[in-house]
Amino acid sequence: MQIDSNEFANQVVLVTGAGSGIGAATAKLFAKRGAKVAVTDINLVSAQKTAAEINNTGGNAIAILHDVSNMTHWENVRDEIHAKLGELNVVHNNAFMKIEKSTNETTIAEWEKQISVNLVSMQMSVLTFLTDLKKNHGAIVNTSSIHANFGFVHHGAYAASKGGMVAFGRQLAVDYGPEIRVNTVLPGPILTPIWDDTTDEYRNLVTSNTPLRRMGKPEEVAEAVCFLASSRASYISGTTLTVDGGYTAEKA
Ligand SMILES: NC(=O)c1ccc[n+]([C@@H]2O[C@H](COP(=O)([O-])OP(=O)(O)OC[C@H]3O[C@@H](n4cnc5c(N)ncnc54)[C@H](O)[C@@H]3O)[C@@H](O)[C@H]2O)c1
Repeated sequence: MQIDSNEFANQVVLVTGAGSGIGAATAKLFAKRGAKVAVTDINLVSAQKTAAEINNTGGNAIAILHDVSNMTHWENVRDEIHAKLGELNVVHNNAFMKIEKSTNETTIAEWEKQISVNLVSMQMSVLTFLTDLKKNHGAIVNTSSIHANFGFVHHGAYAASKGGMVAFGRQLAVDYGPEIRVNTVLPGPILTPIWDDTTDEYRNLVTSNTPLRRMGKPEEVAEAVCFLASSRASYISGTTLTVDGGYTAEKA
């Protein structure tokens, strides 16, 4: 199937956590394919940078301050999108935070924060945009992680949040089909700023454990997200797409 370079023309897309990494790459790809994009992030300066890059290359984006764990922020995001771009067609739930600690050292407050930012935020996206998405026969794409399916040391609360995203995404597909398709990407090792504080040695180990023998690029996850949001994926709902260079295939 040929990709229409303008396949999101007249569509409005929200990408959360779009000031950096996978979210920034996805916002840029949606814009390149014709979407009007709301670039949101808890770090407004980084969201503004992504939006400026889009607007400077002929795209159409607005930047909005958005803590995805805050319902008032979601309501503000909806109002700004409606005022400046129109009703929404696609939500990409991508923003995240990560508690990296042994389970017995993780406090309840940390657990609640972890689940709130990564998982409760999905519920907030539904409460905020269900009317738009139903009316427009829209799509929700979530960024989970291979942590949803595999255990890694010191990632208990994070793994639970990412596993929850898969289960909840599947549930949303059941609840809101036929109008809304809902799918979830599971990235593996993707070279974004979250890897900045890892050693070369660790990244080499990860690479050597990945059949494609390299880390992924944010743009490669963006391709999967845009595919799942597009009409090319018109009969795909309630499922996951792993983008990990084969990392988990080797462990399975
Ligand atoms: N990079 C990887 O190797 C990898 C692997 C698996 C899954 N993922 C997933 O990909 C997604 C994006 O990760 P990334 O690597 O691009 O990270 P990143 O740090 O480059 O980008 C994440 C963005 O989220 C923003 N953010 C943090 N808390 C927020 C909040 N409460 N509200 C709104 N925005 C907030 C940050 O400011 C940042 O701009 C995450 O969901 C992550 O779990 C990444």
